[in-house]
Amino acid sequence: MMTISEQEFAKLVAYVKKNYGVDLTRKKSLVVGRLQNYLAKNNFDSFSAFIKYVLTDQTGTAANLLVNRLTTNHTFFMREPQHFNFLREVVLPYLVKKEIGSKDLRIWSAGCSTGEEPYTIAMTIADYFRIEKEAWDTKILATDISTKVLDIAVAGVYLNEKLRMVPATWRRKYFNQIDEEKSEVKEAIKKEVIFRQFNLMEKVFPFKKRFHVIFCRNVMIYFDTKTQIELVNRFYEWLETGGYLFIGHSETMNLKATKFRYVCPAIYRKEEEKPHSLNAPDIMHQSLSSSGRW
Ligand SMILES: C[S@@+](CC[C@H](N)C(=O)[O-])C[C@H]1O[C@@H](n2cnc3c(N)ncnc32)[C@H](O)[C@@H]1O
Repeated sequence: MMTISEQEFAKLVAYVKKNYGVDLTRKKSLVVGRLQNYLAKNNFDSFSAFIKYVLTDQTGTAANLLVNRLTTNHTFFMREPQHFNFLREVVLPYLVKKEIGSKDLRIWSAGCSTGEEPYTIAMTIADYFRIEKEAWDTKILATDISTKVLDIAVAGVYLNEKLRMVPATWRRKYFNQIDEEKSEVKEAIKKEVIFRQFNLMEKVFPFKKRFHVIFCRNVMIYFDTKTQIELVNRFYEWLETGGYLFIGHSETMNLKATKFRYVCPAIYRKEEEKPHSLNAPDIMHQSLSSSGRW
């Protein structure tokens, strides 16, 4: 078994935290456990040699390899089902009213892992809109840092036992059973989700428009508090007014450090602007800016 020195471990932890936000400080056995076989099979004689490879490789191969091995990707269909009920009962009716003119809903599943979360969102949307769906563009952007999980997500093939939480009617409607073991998400649902590799630590978020809903569940739990607050504030910027942020139920939100309003467990909102009594200068200001002309 290959051992890692304190110095090697500290270097690796610092690299992963700086580049991906993930804090592995207390995860020494996970790091060693997930990397040692790879190192042995690929003729690295020490962790130092591997770290040197990671730090000098310009192709992105080493970085992908590290991320693919060190991220925790546990997820499942219908996870935290209250969220999908809330999406269906509260968020979608609100957005349909708000966006009836554009018929354009933008939803981001940030840290989507192997796809179960964005596919559950897509099924919830399909089930909500039914035949009206044709008229709406409700594509979901689903991103993750790990290429390994994104490959699985794009394929959309899952063990039948992983569909246990999916209602039987949805299983019939939205999956094709391949055999006794596996099923595949139907094309109609697959085409509603666009998977991309994206690092949430990127300085610039490369989106053209703000989102109506952001799911970032069970991702920030791996980040330190400062990184969490910075990310939550970036989500705030990238949400439409009135938009919703869903986080994991085991995650905490420091409300004092953000402008989000608490809605219910693990759901937050970028408040709609409050109507307020206008004085004369306000009215002048409003009429100019709200016309969109100047
Ligand atoms: C535990 S999974 C959560 C999956 C899903 N959101 C859910 O709640 O079931 C966390 C995911 O976050 C991803 N992740 C971690 N750090 C990331 C980063 N800096 N940028 C993008 N994704 C990241 C991991 O690769 C992993 O797939």
